[in-house]
Amino acid sequence: MNASDVMETLTIARWDGPVPADWQRRARASLEAGRVLFFPALAFRPAPDERPLLSPAVLDNTRKNISLDPSTGRLGGTSLAGSERERLAAMMTRFATAATGFLRALAPGYAAHLEPARTSFRPAEIDDRPTSPRQDDRRLHVDAFPTRPLQGRRILRLFSNIAPDGTARHWRVGEPFADFADAFVPRLRPALPGSATLLAALGLTKGRRSAYDEMMLRLHDAAKRDGDYQSRAPQVALELPAGSSWLVYTDLVLHAAVRGHTALEQTFYLPLSAMADPEHAPLRVLERLTGRALV
Ligand SMILES: [Fe+2]
Repeated sequence: MNASDVMETLTIARWDGPVPADWQRRARASLEAGRVLFFPALAFRPAPDERPLLSPAVLDNTRKNISLDPSTGRLGGTSLAGSERERLAAMMTRFATAATGFLRALAPGYAAHLEPARTSFRPAEIDDRPTSPRQDDRRLHVDAFPTRPLQGRRILRLFSNIAPDGTARHWRVGEPFADFADAFVPRLRPALPGSATLLAALGLTKGRRSAYDEMMLRLHDAAKRDGDYQSRAPQVALELPAGSSWLVYTDLVLHAAVRGHTALEQTFYLPLSAMADPEHAPLRVLERLTGRALV
């Protein structure tokens, strides 16, 4: 495997379009097939009065990321107060707006279905002392959220490297999801009967965890815990420079964030019905593999 197998480069420099129709089609097909769309010239530029915020000092003691919830406007993970806090929220909101506009221009077929989720700001160096393999995002994994069941909806994420010192962000990208699932699904233990109902009743999940959500969480954990897989699995190193952006279905693409600091990220959820080709989606791949409905 090499970088061109897992990544497609588009030299778009504007957040607000327009994007030629043949690029729109190519972008959507590549994304859904499990490639990283890389935009080397799509830079998110903090304003001069935002530059002091590009520092790990804005984090509160215990957190690695600052998150902004678009439904509540709540900003979490920062120790900042007053006008500095407002300035940080404003920068993240500006990024969220730019990211949403960009996605609408790039993939108009998604526009009516986009559900903007959290915006995150990651000012610190990627954690090189995580508390457990499960917490270690330097290990290859697919994304799955323990408290947020998605019932088969997709996770699409746009990242921008805004490191003021020009540091690149280093990722590794793994094998196709279907190959990964073929190897790991037969090894997964079944969920405890009734556990999804219990988690929802206790308020530990926002809605009920489907069999799909349970399986994706187990795949996330199983990949990260398997040291042999981590070292032997096919994988490609990507260097994502400061001033670039990239877009990827992180529920489909095995990825590891190895090194780097000061990135912004916008998450979107999308229903399966918005896919040009839903057969590539993790839900469909897992349903084919297990021979049963998972949501
Ligand atoms: Fe991830």
